[in-house]
Amino acid sequence: MFKINENYQKLPGSYLFSTIAKKVSAFTQANPDKDIIRLGIGDVTQPLAPAVIEAMHKAVDEMGKAETFHGYAPDLGYEFLRNAIAEHDYKARGCDISADEIFVSDGAKSDSANIQEIFGPDNRIAVCDPVYPVYVDSNVMSGRTGVYDAKTETWSDVIYMPCTMDNGFVPEFPKETPDMIYLCLPNNPTGTTITKAQLQEWVDYANQSGAVIIYDGAYEAYISEDDVAHSIYECQGAETCAIELKSFSKNAGFTGVRLGYTVVPKELKCKDVSLHGMWARRHGTKFNGAPYIVQRAGEAVYSPEGREQLKKQVAYYMKNASIIKAGLKDAGYTVFGGVNAPYIWLKTPGNMTSWEFFDDLLERANVVGTPGSGFGPSGEGYFRLTAFGSYENTLAAIERVKNL
Ligand code: MLT
Repeated sequence: MFKINENYQKLPGSYLFSTIAKKVSAFTQANPDKDIIRLGIGDVTQPLAPAVIEAMHKAVDEMGKAETFHGYAPDLGYEFLRNAIAEHDYKARGCDISADEIFVSDGAKSDSANIQEIFGPDNRIAVCDPVYPVYVDSNVMSGRTGVYDAKTETWSDVIYMPCTMDNGFVPEFPKETPDMIYLCLPNNPTGTTITKAQLQEWVDYANQSGAVIIYDGAYEAYISEDDVAHSIYECQGAETCAIELKSFSKNAGFTGVRLGYTVVPKELKCKDVSLHGMWARRHGTKFNGAPYIVQRAGEAVYSPEGREQLKKQVAYYMKNASIIKAGLKDAGYTVFGGVNAPYIWLKTPGNMTSWEFFDDLLERANVVGTPGSGFGPSGEGYFRLTAFGSYENTLAAIERVKNL
């Protein structure tokens, strides 16, 4: 008889955003006349930028002719895209990352789930609490997290770094020594971030303790303050301790197109084993490359027109963030985030739990958000709203919340 991966049986409930989608779908079926505004999952709503569409059309035409047709993409991604990434996301910021340290993929979600595969099963992971659920769940699936305690909603072998109002949502160095540290900055879900000087302390800590940092920079395009690093490689010594994950979903609206990349510097080693070599081996074996058309679309993100158009798109979403933040403050809510990230993190009113507030908001305002407790126990009593809706829907949603 075949056996299953028992670790999957340990996963509590379904994936957070699937649970929310099911709840909203049940509500919609029961209330077909209600106009629901979705500010839950961080999914974009604005169309792809004209420069991106133009590049995709051109690439589609190329695929229609034998002379310009493209089959399997190179393992690490096309050079035209990796060169553009190296130039704009790294060299321009003074980071010493070269094109052959960049692995193009179908998005940061899969990379953030898959990267743990190249690490040993007995590594201790440290995560912020609240946290993007993929980091923990993917480690559960590979048996790295120990036993789940339903009462505290924690795993025995995971080191949690609480990020709450008391510490300004800034993780503190854990008391136990972790082997792998997941950092998402600017942060999903709290919408807050840390300064470059604070990030440097994490890099120093990792180098001194022999830990690796898995750095998720998916929201980097939303940074508005000068003292915040756009890449962990702006910090000295990060090449020897950090892997960086980047997405095209939030900066360029590719949630339905799928494109991302991971940087594994050649200097990053465990004793004398290169993690770059390991990830290259994994990528080569398990992944056949993002489509040519999509990689051309990604290249257009870095063109002068693309950059200009996407700057406006980011500003559009950040205007929504200000509207949400100001509106909620006016209505008496305690609100965080929304300055360097497209997420607003609020304290639920009147000691409601996160899920109680979710239900209340859905039923009375017909607005969908994300319960903070879905991101971890320290998220209890908080709630996340995304700025990725349309301007009109954002205004309408905040009006409804104010009128509750
Ligand atoms: C979120 O809402 O947290 C994100 O959209 C999830 C993701 O990027 O996969």
